[in-house]
Amino acid sequence: MKILVGKNYDRVSEMTANIIATKVKEKPDAVLGLATGGTPKGVYKRLIAMYNDKKIDFSKVKTFNLDEYYGLSSNHPQSYAYYMKTNFFDYINIKEENAHIPDGLAQDIDEECHRYEQAIKDCGGIDLQLLGIGHNGHIGFNEPDDALHTSTHLVNLHEKTISANSRFFGKDEEVPRQAITMGIGSIFGADEIVLIASGEDKAEIIAKMINGQLSSKLPASMLQIHKSLTIIIDEPIQKHLYAEGVLKEQLKVV
Ligand code: PGA
Repeated sequence: MKILVGKNYDRVSEMTANIIATKVKEKPDAVLGLATGGTPKGVYKRLIAMYNDKKIDFSKVKTFNLDEYYGLSSNHPQSYAYYMKTNFFDYINIKEENAHIPDGLAQDIDEECHRYEQAIKDCGGIDLQLLGIGHNGHIGFNEPDDALHTSTHLVNLHEKTISANSRFFGKDEEVPRQAITMGIGSIFGADEIVLIASGEDKAEIIAKMINGQLSSKLPASMLQIHKSLTIIIDEPIQKHLYAEGVLKEQLKVV
């Protein structure tokens, strides 16, 4: 596990975008695993700027998003398909058929989950997976539970997640209660994982993720044993990790 520290959110975004850009330069047909939420928005902004400066070409890149709300169509403003379009895909030259997101309106869930897993395999697996982390330690929508699912599956969202997401929806009853998410095994299959977190409110869960026991009650803890995990945090998180003794020494802030 490697930990990198950026001074602030902008630096975290820039460092992450640079890692992704380097991967795409090395391998123009790279398969990227992508995440939604507030944290990755800065990464997408940076990548769009690099694309506009002709420093990166997405014409052969394939992407797989971690998750999608169950019951939302791809043009629902709160769907993750819509998020990806409006925060990233509409501004780069990725081919529509190369950008994969689970179908939130799939009639046959089992078939959709199977299709998604197979599509990842057919592309040769994920080269680089970008992750955020929820305050409850979820990755994708793999919520704390008695057991973890390996592959793409339908999940009941936790109250904490539903209330965290309710700010984006008009009425509480409109917040989806279920989602389709890649499983821990699907995420683990990635050659390289980059998890990003910024803001002091994420410090405690990052500390638990790095230092805690591997547990299905803290899905992100499983990443401790991934062969190539990079965690990119900001300075306030590093301060907390150091104060708590999770980091024995302060790392250089880039
Ligand atoms: P956030 O979400 O970036 O909006 O905090 C992260 C997550 O829930 O995975």
